[in-house]
Amino acid sequence: MPASSLDQVVSLCKRRGFIFPGSAIYGGLANTWDYGPLGAELKNRVKRAWWDAFVRCRQDMAGLDTAILMNPKVWEASGHVSSFADPLVDCKKCKQRFRGDKLLEEKLGVEAVAVLKIDQVQPMLLAENIPCPACGSCAWTEAKRFNLMFKTHQGVIEDEGSLAYLRPETAQGIFVNFKHILETMRPRLPFGIAQIGKAFRNEITPGNFTFRTREFEQMEIEYFVDPSGDKKMHFDEWKAGVWEWYTQLGIAPDRLRVREHAKDELSHYSSRTIDIEYAFPWGWGELFGLADRGDFDLAQHSKHSGEELTYTDPDDPKKKFMPHVIEPSFGCDRTVLTFLLEAYTEETLPDGESRTVMRFHPRLAPVDVAVLPLSKKEHLVAKAEELYKKIVHETPLTVDFDVTGSIGKRYRRQDEIGTPKCVTVDFGTLGEDEKQGDKDTVTIRDRDSLEQVRVSLGGIVDALSAAR
Ligand code: GLY
Repeated sequence: MPASSLDQVVSLCKRRGFIFPGSAIYGGLANTWDYGPLGAELKNRVKRAWWDAFVRCRQDMAGLDTAILMNPKVWEASGHVSSFADPLVDCKKCKQRFRGDKLLEEKLGVEAVAVLKIDQVQPMLLAENIPCPACGSCAWTEAKRFNLMFKTHQGVIEDEGSLAYLRPETAQGIFVNFKHILETMRPRLPFGIAQIGKAFRNEITPGNFTFRTREFEQMEIEYFVDPSGDKKMHFDEWKAGVWEWYTQLGIAPDRLRVREHAKDELSHYSSRTIDIEYAFPWGWGELFGLADRGDFDLAQHSKHSGEELTYTDPDDPKKKFMPHVIEPSFGCDRTVLTFLLEAYTEETLPDGESRTVMRFHPRLAPVDVAVLPLSKKEHLVAKAEELYKKIVHETPLTVDFDVTGSIGKRYRRQDEIGTPKCVTVDFGTLGEDEKQGDKDTVTIRDRDSLEQVRVSLGGIVDALSAAR
């Protein structure tokens, strides 16, 4: 069973160094979070698993890493200056500001709210008697559109000419480099361009830990296809491929669902969008979105920049056209949070003891192996250190070395951070106690089954590598 409440995971994350509240020594900064040593490793592994699956192991994909700050004309062309806005309402009593659509969604559902026009939001809040979450009164101002892009200035002069935005999606870095990719990589359709990077949205109601934050990381792909071909097939292939990626890395399929966006809910660039949602402790929430962006972005950038952004068929140079785009877009922090929630397990062991164990997929666990000398005796610790160095040098595994506390406590600590294998060096290993095991053998303990097997020192690297 995964975590039943978010608090269980928030508390474990803080206690064990996965995720800390941001700027904590200064009283914090609302809704900011810092990944600690284990969280940074977990997140890196999620990104590596993503890059491996969708970029490195495919011939039809190229990767990029583009700038966060872009020419502001990009955001005029992309429609974000004019259309990337939320409907905000103020409580007339306590003056707090909320997203009117989110307040209504809880009562009416996402689909019903998606079709509302901006001037219907306030009347609907009043008709449905929706109270202010802060003070409980029901006195709402008219809804106003609030653009979500963070503004900043480049250089020392803070005027209109130096205005810049923190990118609200990584996607535009891909579109503005479309021509460079055509020229340098000579790809054939269909092909995709991928990147992982930070994006920023001035959300009015962030929350639920790292689920909705103003600064967040995306893993995005723009997949370019021939519009005269079978676009639906590409869309369905991505939907299936992404579902498989999540489930192979350990997300239970019955806690995932696909939700098709209603027509009026679609982003300004999309003609069709589906989300893959996860059953978070507070309800279903978006993990991933798949959108048909058509030629909206390339056409807009071509118009605004004056550049020709077309693809020429290498087999028929007279065939020139603007490809259409299928966009698989992953929330990276949400994906990490999902793996944390899904891994969290509290259980009672056969001996009556209870433990908390993070059942991460072995590819995602931040520590692969812990090497544990059974006691603090100097020559035993020295033997264990020798083994630690061997594993670190002969494998790409991340290895922890822990001598502090009873062996039972150390196993529990490794369970709590999700280490798949513990290797215990004992007096049998040294040839000093046959009852513990043969000379030059160690015990490998499995995190999930708790099974312990005795393995020779000569075979340890193979045994640990095979387990991954
Ligand atoms: N590029 C899609 C999104 O940021 O939602």
